[in-house]
Amino acid sequence: MNKLAIYPGTFDPFTNGHLDIVLRSVRLFDRFIIAITTNAKKTPLFSVPERKELIEKSLPAGNNITVESFDGLLVDYAEKKGCIILIRGLRAVSDFEYELQMALLNRRLKPAIETIFKMPSEEYSFLTSSAVKEIAQLGGCVDGLVPPAVKSALIEKFKINQQSILAKI
Ligand code: COA
Repeated sequence: MNKLAIYPGTFDPFTNGHLDIVLRSVRLFDRFIIAITTNAKKTPLFSVPERKELIEKSLPAGNNITVESFDGLLVDYAEKKGCIILIRGLRAVSDFEYELQMALLNRRLKPAIETIFKMPSEEYSFLTSSAVKEIAQLGGCVDGLVPPAVKSALIEKFKINQQSILAKI
């Protein structure tokens, strides 16, 4: 059987915590898709093509992973791909309620689709994309929190943002 899993998220930006979940999951499947939602509830810092490129640059060479984006319902996208397995990370008890709700709603929408939860390494259990953005924006060090490509992109993004603020003054 050709086993396919989808790891969906906003990935704004992709962190070492996300990468940890990917590396823990990918060897269990023949094919693995990291799927970026285009209908994010939050206003993203990085565009979808930027997020896709940053994820691709952060993955180990010679992998069985593809990075795609989707709009609409996740379960519809999964069905279109012929995929019945969704991967989500559970960092702490605080994630549980939100993840349980999402998994049960997705199951209600498409009973054939299962959600599998992976625990990240504890060193990433406190990590969020918002925290990483805030640290970078305020000039803090994000080494070890995000892959090198993401670190460079954050530095570049906030430099550009600061320049555009200065240009308006
Ligand atoms: N390491 C580090 N951070 C992690 C993490 C990990 N292992 N797992 C989650 N996070 C963080 C993310 O960085 C993000 O932080 P932020 O809030 O500071 O940005 C937060 O936890 C949650 O982000 P993410 O895992 O990307 O999920 P999401 O809640 O943004 O997106 C989707 C969830 C895309 C799967 C969901 O919204 C979806 O399916 N959308 C499509 C529409 C749909 O089908 N809706 C019905 C759902 S029932």
